Amino acid sequence: MEKSNVRRVILFPLPLQGCINPMIQLAKILHSRGFSITVIHTRFNAPKASSHPLFTFLQIPDGLSEAETRTHDVTLLLTLLNRSCESPFRDCLTKLLQIADSETEEKKQRISCLIDDSGWIFTQPFAQSLNLPRLVLSTYKVSFFRDHFVLPQIRREMNLPLQGSINYLEQDDPVEEFLPLRKKDLIRILDAETEVLDSYSDMILETTKASSGIIFVSSCEELDQESLNQARQDFKVPIFAIGPSHSYFPGSSSSLFTPDETCIPWLDTQEDKSVIYVSFGSVATISKQEFLEIAWGIRNSDQPFLWVVRVGSVHGTKWLEAIPEETIDRLNKKGKIVKWAAQQDVLKHRAIGGFLTHNGWNSTVESVCEGVPMICSPFVWDQLLNARFVSDVWMVGLHLEGRIERNEIERAIKRLLLETEGEAIRKRMELLKEKVGRSVKQNGSAYRSLGHLVDHISSF
Ligand code: UDX
Repeated sequence: MEKSNVRRVILFPLPLQGCINPMIQLAKILHSRGFSITVIHTRFNAPKASSHPLFTFLQIPDGLSEAETRTHDVTLLLTLLNRSCESPFRDCLTKLLQIADSETEEKKQRISCLIDDSGWIFTQPFAQSLNLPRLVLSTYKVSFFRDHFVLPQIRREMNLPLQGSINYLEQDDPVEEFLPLRKKDLIRILDAETEVLDSYSDMILETTKASSGIIFVSSCEELDQESLNQARQDFKVPIFAIGPSHSYFPGSSSSLFTPDETCIPWLDTQEDKSVIYVSFGSVATISKQEFLEIAWGIRNSDQPFLWVVRVGSVHGTKWLEAIPEETIDRLNKKGKIVKWAAQQDVLKHRAIGGFLTHNGWNSTVESVCEGVPMICSPFVWDQLLNARFVSDVWMVGLHLEGRIERNEIERAIKRLLLETEGEAIRKRMELLKEKVGRSVKQNGSAYRSLGHLVDHISSF
């Protein structure tokens, strides 16, 4: 009797848009290389199974109350999820392995490995107890993932409270342990750093070192060479930087929200490279005051714009109520405000000239892949480092330096879209886009790394 050669990979994404997108992209890549895919997921922010009929989706209870699903505190959310998902995940995976074992020879599909986000901290010891190799997926830039483990130590060594602890003149100094971060960025990162986060980081480090490998989606030698070399020495496990994962299957979406379908027809009516696209990802929230400053900054720049305002993303309001009606009318004459957009398609559009972004790693890389220069307005965590790479290292964007003020925003939009400074930035961005684009082509660094990943998984 013929044995089935098909191998199954189990994926377990964290239920955040910035984690689900890359995980589903990875699923598509592995499926195209002959693997069967099972996705274990929480009820909260469940991926749309109907959009991916070739995969098996298994939902586990996550124990979150309605109120908890609405929290904007990501650390709290991850702590709750790690606590309440452990037991249902164990049951689900054990059952899957038992079923795989009991199949007839002809139908038998070996489960090769588990791939899950670094933020799941209970999966490594459990997978180990089952002799199931586990690979860690990181959606962060390699340099952030590697260097952020030093934060608990920096925090312990610094005197609290942090605000005011750094002399004004030192604010722009580099943080030697965490380049190219500046001291003022470090303060903003450490503001959110707590003891809970410290021990969570320690667990992530320990479980990653014990894993069978790390997959960096959206990173490649071209964006992260030095950090990749250092990470290989630090972690001593195989590392795969497979590049901008969305490039392998462009246009396919794993969006948790419904994109507004009028964006592309509206962009079709605009001139080339004239529109500023504004979006702060799937998690960030802003105050009413910041919201109004952005509205006025965009309006005063007098440039066409496409602005994504997620429902509930402005404190204390549902959607646009904070903006007076008269201002909304003025805004509508020049641009378009939507609740969610098909971002990758938007960035690809010839009319987009710039991206005012929070610099989540997915948004940053999507922008690089389409050659769209950025205006950086990072809020928290890795976004501050990503923004520094954009503005200071690759020099493909402008930085608002934390000033969400109408004049600053208006000025940055004009500098980027209308002035010679913007042209120079655009030229550098074109070069970076080409470099990163080559990495996912046959024989490019990311393409080769993907090949090594497939060989690695096949060897289990
Ligand atoms: C989170 C963290 O906040 C971020 O710091 C980390 O780097 C990744 O995880 P998020 O804030 O959602 O992610 O930002 P980002 O990484 O940019 O991911 C957002 C994703 O949603 C992107 O793939 C983007 O294309 C998509 N998106 C966003 C849309 O499809 N439509 C939108 O309107 C906005």
